[in-house]
Amino acid sequence: MARSDMTQEEAIRHTARLLLAAHYATALTGAGISVESGIPPFRGPGGLWTKYGEPPMNGYERFLENPKRAWEERLSPTGPGAILRETVAAAVPNPGHYACVALEEMGLLQCLTTQNIDNLHRRAGSRKLAEIHGNATLVRCIRCTLRVPLDDISLEILPPPCPNPTCQGILKIDTVAFGEPIPPDVLEQCRQAAERSDCMLVAGTSATVYPAAWFPLQVRENGGTLIEVNLYESELTSLCAVSLRGKSGELLPQIVNAAQELRSAQAT
Ligand code: APR
Repeated sequence: MARSDMTQEEAIRHTARLLLAAHYATALTGAGISVESGIPPFRGPGGLWTKYGEPPMNGYERFLENPKRAWEERLSPTGPGAILRETVAAAVPNPGHYACVALEEMGLLQCLTTQNIDNLHRRAGSRKLAEIHGNATLVRCIRCTLRVPLDDISLEILPPPCPNPTCQGILKIDTVAFGEPIPPDVLEQCRQAAERSDCMLVAGTSATVYPAAWFPLQVRENGGTLIEVNLYESELTSLCAVSLRGKSGELLPQIVNAAQELRSAQAT
């Protein structure tokens, strides 16, 4: 944790106080919040990129060059993509995801930006959600940006045509490929949330991939407060008012409990 004079319990209570005092608290989550759901992270111990190497940075260019080949590669049963798909398909939300829902329902989270494509925040019940890297259960037309569930379309023809009769576009998985621009609608949603945020809870991310990694820096630049929940130190640790070291599935519920206790103490 960023302040060595605090015990973990005191740091959790301090975190709850910061969230309760914030006017517009937001959150940024990454792969680490889904590790306890069985989905490997990308970097650090057990990371997919640690094991297989970072993927090529021109994934989107390769898709545009040959969408059929890109779809066939996507559906192949081997490699890091297959591991990610299989673990995502088997995963269920963990207490960390549900803690984010509880913070939203307490009115303490105005927007949750997630870099995860695993749909677990949605399944847990988060509503004020921005999936900046897309959602693996959806496909998106690269021309009209229509999004539909992957399960609702046929994969007989690759690439699948856009179901919008007035559009001649093609569909790709909604997850943002390396080199692909973040869809403007969700980028604007994240940008506005970060702009308004005076406190950001950053959980389970190495904070190394932009533009998502830029948002906590923007909050800090605007004089806001950063709180980190991570197993290890990250690029952000030194900028955080509090950096809780541990598993998000354990720490986030403790933050919720501390906020509930503080709120009821304030009410009496
Ligand atoms: N609890 C909390 N933090 C954890 C846990 C856990 N149980 N397990 C791992 N972590 C932390 C790691 O210490 C690391 O800082 O989660 C972070 C995961 O970092 P990455 O694997 O880099 O994932 P992320 O930050 O989401 O990556 C961003 O990179 O490759 C792209 O598109 C991909 O969205 C991803 C983006």
